[in-house]
Amino acid sequence: MWVLGIETSCDETGIALYDTARGLRGNTLYSQAALHADYGGVVPELASRDHIRRVLPLTRETLRQADCALADIDAIAYTEGPGLAGALLVGASIGHGLGYALNVPALGIHHLEGHLLSPLMTEPAPDFPFIALLVSGGHSQLMHVPNIGVYELLGETLDDAAGEAFDKTAQLLGRGYPGGPAIAQCAERGDPGRVNLPRPMLSQLEKTGDLDFSFSGLKTAVLIQIKARPLNAQRRADIAAELQAAIVDVLVVKSLAALERTGLTQLVVAGGVGANRELRVRQTAAAKRRGAHVFYPAPELCTDNGAMIAFAAALRLQNTAHSTNRAPLAFGVQPRWELSTLQPVSA
Ligand code: KG4
Ligand code: ZN
Repeated sequence: MWVLGIETSCDETGIALYDTARGLRGNTLYSQAALHADYGGVVPELASRDHIRRVLPLTRETLRQADCALADIDAIAYTEGPGLAGALLVGASIGHGLGYALNVPALGIHHLEGHLLSPLMTEPAPDFPFIALLVSGGHSQLMHVPNIGVYELLGETLDDAAGEAFDKTAQLLGRGYPGGPAIAQCAERGDPGRVNLPRPMLSQLEKTGDLDFSFSGLKTAVLIQIKARPLNAQRRADIAAELQAAIVDVLVVKSLAALERTGLTQLVVAGGVGANRELRVRQTAAAKRRGAHVFYPAPELCTDNGAMIAFAAALRLQNTAHSTNRAPLAFGVQPRWELSTLQPVSA
């Protein structure tokens, strides 16, 4: 079964073809990072307009890569939410239009379910149940995942997401957007011990077992550091290194606490921040010391992409009696959509 995946929830147009027999066959991506760079963040209207320009050329390119004809496609998957309404509508309308024209179903996929299931695309894949740490630009959540479609929230951020802390600090340090890769690169020349930043919500874990996160205080702490002494290249690198260390410390300690609380030994890390090398190294080592194993998507599949959307749809189609009817003409998107409200499937 061939599934075409369309991701347009934010600032990346991602198109992919997943074949349930042979795996990922085509995967193309267009990043709008340069388009939004001058603004320090994503401008929704510019994002929607650019998705319109990219979706069809990328779809043609993906079909060519996979040596697949339009008529070979068995289902279309698109990101239904959460995300920017106008951007989501581009993928949803193209997805439904194609589904209707090809006489195949069009499935709306939850963006975070796409991230969360993406480590199952590569071998060795985790078995259910597992703990998932989802860390992206808009979300930081710890979840217990007993099955596809069942996502029980253990903790989440009370304010900024981990990716947002990277992005906002990068802006304060004059390092542009997106901030995660920029901070990680800058941190390579820095010494984390030379600056002191807090590890938010770690004391709460000790006192009450709280698995929530809070990252907004970090940017204020960085601002205080910047005002205390003028920035030069070394100090900028030291602040970047300490910020990365602070975020990684909190994520690692809370993920291990979630494993301990549930008695599970498998941790899945997904979302853009999951591409962070320091996080991967420290998380893997810490889990190993406790006899646990960590699973990550391939680094290029950590940030937004169409492959994870096609793959999540393929899993749903394989595991449920989903309608195989032609896509209906009416459709909607869900800019705000709680992952815990998804329909479970019987795996
Ligand atoms: O999952 P994603 O591509 O989009 C959302 O769904 O939000 O995540 C984007 C976030 C951005 O905040 C970006 O700065 C962060 O992931 N990110 C990273 C790295 N690569 C991307 N953060 C830390 N280290 C990285 N290497
Ligand atoms: Zn994402």
